[in-house]
Amino acid sequence: MDYSDIQTIEHDVLVVGAGGAGIRAAIECAEKGLSTGIISKSLLGKAHTVMAEGGIAASLGNVDSRDSWKVHFRDTMRGGKFLNQWRMAELHAKQAPDRVRELEEWGAVFDRTDKGLINQRNFGGHRYPRLAHVGDRTGLEIIRTLQDFCVHQGISTHMECTGLDLVLDGDKVSGLVGYWRETGRFVLFKTKAIILATGGGGKAWKVTSNSWEYTGDGLGMAYRAGAELIDMEFTQFHPTGMVWPPSVKGILVTEGVRGDGGILLNSEGERFMFNYIPKKFASETADTEAEASRWLDGDREARRPPELLTRDVVARAIKKEVEAGRGSPNGGAFLDIASRRPAEFIKKKLPSMYHQFKELAEIDITEKPMEVGPTLHYFMGGIRVNSDSQQTNVPGLFACGECAGGMHGANRLGGNSLSDLLVFGKLAGDGAANYINSLTGQLNCSNEEVSKIIKEATDILNREEGKNPYLVHEELQNILQSYVSIVRTGEELALGLDELQKLKADIAEVFAHASAQYNPGWNEALDLKNLIVTAEAVTRAALIREESRGAHTRLDFEGEHDDGLKYNIVIKKTESGMSAEKVRREDPPVELADIAYASLEELEGDNLGA
Ligand code: FUM
Repeated sequence: MDYSDIQTIEHDVLVVGAGGAGIRAAIECAEKGLSTGIISKSLLGKAHTVMAEGGIAASLGNVDSRDSWKVHFRDTMRGGKFLNQWRMAELHAKQAPDRVRELEEWGAVFDRTDKGLINQRNFGGHRYPRLAHVGDRTGLEIIRTLQDFCVHQGISTHMECTGLDLVLDGDKVSGLVGYWRETGRFVLFKTKAIILATGGGGKAWKVTSNSWEYTGDGLGMAYRAGAELIDMEFTQFHPTGMVWPPSVKGILVTEGVRGDGGILLNSEGERFMFNYIPKKFASETADTEAEASRWLDGDREARRPPELLTRDVVARAIKKEVEAGRGSPNGGAFLDIASRRPAEFIKKKLPSMYHQFKELAEIDITEKPMEVGPTLHYFMGGIRVNSDSQQTNVPGLFACGECAGGMHGANRLGGNSLSDLLVFGKLAGDGAANYINSLTGQLNCSNEEVSKIIKEATDILNREEGKNPYLVHEELQNILQSYVSIVRTGEELALGLDELQKLKADIAEVFAHASAQYNPGWNEALDLKNLIVTAEAVTRAALIREESRGAHTRLDFEGEHDDGLKYNIVIKKTESGMSAEKVRREDPPVELADIAYASLEELEGDNLGA
């Protein structure tokens, strides 16, 4: 096949994914004068970004002036169990306030304090009220703002276009082959650099807050092109997803409910989180109702309620209550804000939650508690990148947002995803522009490579018979939900890996009859090759991290082990298949370690360097 037969579009930079990170990266590229295109599997604005409802974390210090980038950095490292890439966490904490202010200049309308400043609310693991928010629709407002700004920058947006694979010229990225979901026709994007911003792969699990687009596409494409993945064992289960009715199981219930005073109860009416306070956080966490209420009444010297412990702790606690027979009728816990806050407050601060429960579960949350349980929400792991430029080990290939790994270590704090995508979206745009400026010579997309990608995709249509892609996807979800869940054992992970290996044979045989046009079965089949890379990478990494750290809990290896901080697990494609190995981490710069391990008093006195 000669690719002169297929549609070809040229851009200096192609951004894959139109969530917050992708759009922010594209804006930066366009501002640098690069011809920039974005492809989006879905419609512009339909992104997992909107699932970060409760706010964007940035140390503006509008509600508590003791906040600073150092305290934010310290909280982030502690939340990530010190496994975060130090430089990424530093850049993130330092640059987040500017990215929020910039967003405001571009038209985002944040909630205000009485003094007219951007309002900030509490969230788990954040020492001070730090989440700038728009009710419980913060992600939506961010996407809306970025989208409006982006369309005025001359960026070409290509919607309902799915990337299949990257094209390389030697070791450098030179293009991407994709297809239009509507017509099934192929398209070759010829580019000098590609920025992946495709989000995570939550659709590998059965119960997830992610929607249909999140099939690990960037992870799969990057891996097949030779890029490394890092920290894949760390998958975040948000403690509060809807558990009923079954059709909406997994949909997010924002942490903002707990940030604004909601409490968790078991079937006996007990506020059980008091029983799950880890020793490490005991001195900062209220261990009585009275102390927790003082905090809720605005006494900032009081200790924080245990519902605002980090997500890994809260998710495991709910699971334990259910296992002990103290769960809610549909296998979760009760989240009660009705008895804590007036109806008007709830409707004003949590309007989406109010409507979500009213419409989907026929529950009025101003009167009754919600039923909630853990849901797969976010990947801390992802494509390994340089902290400053966001470039991968493949020249010309960049990644940012959820599909890039390293920033959040073993566990992400709520609200740090929105700031991550703005900070690193911008840096990826800068990185791609610098790379392009240094490029010499022409890049080529070989017919052979392009044809190979297209043939692999059309083989699925040309088989006489084979496996049903929907059933294969369901089987993959069952495997991860059973064996690679909130708590794990070596035995289960090994079983899961075995099952995934068997499933690969089925994936090689999926078929979808009829033409490529309007063919959701074919679309589903194509997603499977990314889902299997994602699932295998998570399982392999989880198997070799023999300790419990953050979101990765091994029942057979309790607690954090001292040497667990010495390495990251890096996944690579090799000739014999996927390899997962421990790669030694560099020691942190002394000035950053001093901040991360400092006491709050030291930080508030601001007597540390950096
Ligand atoms: O609960 C939430 O609103 C989610 C926020 C996040 O994941 O950052």
